[in-house]
Amino acid sequence: MKRLYFRFTIGVIIIMVLSFYVPREIFHLINKEEGRAPRPQIPFNSTVEQLKGIFESAPASQYHNLFDSLSGVLNYPLMMVDTSDPSIPPELHYRHKEPDRAGGPPAQNLGYIYIPLNKIGKMLVLGPMPRYFRNETQFFIVMAAVILAIAGIAGFIMVVPLARNLRTLELATSRFGEGQLDSRAAVKSRDAIGSVANRFNSMAESIQQMIQRERQLLQSVSHELRTPIARIRFSLGLLEGTQNEEERKERLREIDGEIDEINQLVGELLDYNRFQSESMSLNKQTLNVADIIGEVIKRLQDFQPDIKIDLHLEPKAESVVVADKILFRRAMQNLVANALRYAKSTVTISYRKESGEAIVEISDDGPGVPPEMREQIMKPFYRIDPSGTREAGGVGLGLAIVSRILELHEARISVEAANGGGAKFVTRWPGVTTEAPG
Ligand SMILES: Nc1ncnc2c1ncn2[C@@H]1O[C@H](COP(=O)(O)OP(=O)(O)OP(=O)(O)O)[C@@H](O)[C@H]1O
Ligand SMILES: [Mg+2]
Repeated sequence: MKRLYFRFTIGVIIIMVLSFYVPREIFHLINKEEGRAPRPQIPFNSTVEQLKGIFESAPASQYHNLFDSLSGVLNYPLMMVDTSDPSIPPELHYRHKEPDRAGGPPAQNLGYIYIPLNKIGKMLVLGPMPRYFRNETQFFIVMAAVILAIAGIAGFIMVVPLARNLRTLELATSRFGEGQLDSRAAVKSRDAIGSVANRFNSMAESIQQMIQRERQLLQSVSHELRTPIARIRFSLGLLEGTQNEEERKERLREIDGEIDEINQLVGELLDYNRFQSESMSLNKQTLNVADIIGEVIKRLQDFQPDIKIDLHLEPKAESVVVADKILFRRAMQNLVANALRYAKSTVTISYRKESGEAIVEISDDGPGVPPEMREQIMKPFYRIDPSGTREAGGVGLGLAIVSRILELHEARISVEAANGGGAKFVTRWPGVTTEAPG
């Protein structure tokens, strides 16, 4: 915006300067060609004022001497005539009575300037002056034409790149609107249009990514649903062909398990979708981390009774976090469930405060997450070993939900290597005061 402003301001200044100088030079040239004297550097008015001043301050007795010396140095002829001289045009006869005004030349006498010398009842006549313009109409026509031409050319130079860039931007946006999601505006300029184009490009980029993500999600969901459905169909086929009561029960159990899986997937998907919505309102409050972790462990540990859970929390009352209770518990539950699933023997949960952030770390002594996959596993349906985790019951949405919950809280998560080589998930929740609550 600033750039555009400067560009136009400088453009206007250039137009003004050119409009002043170019016509001047053109007339100068015309005058020269037509053999007229060059334009005087001192404007008429100041010459006239000077002359008046000199005569007014001198005593009347000096007038004739003054007249003689001045007429030698002036560029124009100088005469001294009687006020009653019939050669003075009649309009001027009354003018000389106004002592302050040098008689400006009337139109038909253009080229003469009359200066009244009231002390001696005479009048100085300066002229004839060279006439610089043949007539005023001609002057104005040429002036207007030159200014128009300059403004036109300058305007053209200023507007053409803008118009071209606008057109490019317009094309890109309409193509994008028609569904070409990879349409971008190739505008390189650093002016206002360039910055709008940049904004458009980054907006288009994120919309494209968003739509791609949705498509991928849809694809993954269909894929995820297909597997249990195919297995149900397979089990049903076997069920049909068997008379054996034991085998029938086994097949029904399998079908039940697959339906559970579909149910879990649909549940997680609904959650994921719910957390995804922008308008999700948070009920933030100061939560006691020990209490929430306690609830989570109670809920999960039955599934992995052999894994030991080590808690490193600050004194209970000081381990706080500012978050939505349900969402915070959900995030902790997903992280602890993963840790329990992958740990060999121990899961460690620790809490500390650091520059206004509550840091909750969940680590295990399992296989860990290879550095190149630490970003990927946060995406929906990404699993390091898809075949392996399915048996362990993972849908692949747990961490995607965690990362969305953290995003809603403006909190951050990072995946690191734990001391024993396992995975360490570090979550940082803002908004806690570093002093202990009273
Ligand atoms: N503690 C961990 N140790 C090693 N790998 C992990 C750990 N936590 C997550 N992962 C890897 O990240 C993948 C994604 O985890 P995520 O929680 O999103 O899905 P999931 O656990 O497979 O399924 P869900 O949580 O939806 O039931 C996991 O499949 C696993 O490969
Ligand atoms: Mg998980």
